[in-house]
Amino acid sequence: MTNKRTVITYGTFDLFHVGHLRLLKRARELGDYLIVGVSTDQFNAIKGKKTIIPYDQRAEIVQSIRYVDQVIPEQSWEQKVEDIQKFNIDLLVMGEDWKGKFDDLKAYCEVVYLPRTQGVSSSRLKNSLKGLLDISPVKLREAIEVLQQILNDLE
Ligand code: CTP
Repeated sequence: MTNKRTVITYGTFDLFHVGHLRLLKRARELGDYLIVGVSTDQFNAIKGKKTIIPYDQRAEIVQSIRYVDQVIPEQSWEQKVEDIQKFNIDLLVMGEDWKGKFDDLKAYCEVVYLPRTQGVSSSRLKNSLKGLLDISPVKLREAIEVLQQILNDLE
C-alpha cells in the first residue's frame, strides 16, 4: 500500500498558455500524481465552447507538461464522481472561476479552488486573434503604404 496522494483537475486548455501551466504546476505540488481531464470537442459543444485546437492536440500538449502524470478525456459533467472513485482521487483542484460549483464532491474527496493567473485566458487570446483578422481596410492600406515606403527606401 502506498501513500501516494492523487490529484485531479479538469479543463479545456485551448491555446495553451501560462495560466494553464501555473494551474497544473500548483495542482501537482498539492500531491504526488496529477490526472488531468481534458474536455473533448463533443463536451465543449455541450458547454457552448468552440476551441481552435482539436482535442487530440490539446490532450497531447497537456500530457507533455512535466507536472502532468496522466490525461483522460472529460466527456460529461457527471463523470467526476466516477473518476474520483476509479482513480482513488484524494483532491480535486479547480480554478477559482469554478468556486463553490463542485462543493458537492466534498463528499468524495477534498476540493480546492486555486486563484487564476491574472491577465491571460484562452478567450482573451481568441479575441486578440479575431482583432488581428478584423483589421479595417483603411488600416490595411496604411500598413501597405508604410511597407511600400520601406521598400522604396531600400532601392
Ligand atoms: N486558469 C488559470 N489562470 C488563467 C486561465 C485558466 O488558473 N489565467 C485555469 C482555469 O481556472 C482552469 C484551467 O486553467 O482551472 C483550465 O482553464 P480553461 O478554462 O481551459 O482556460 P481559460 O483560459 O480560462 O479558458 P476560457 O478563457 O475559454 O474560459
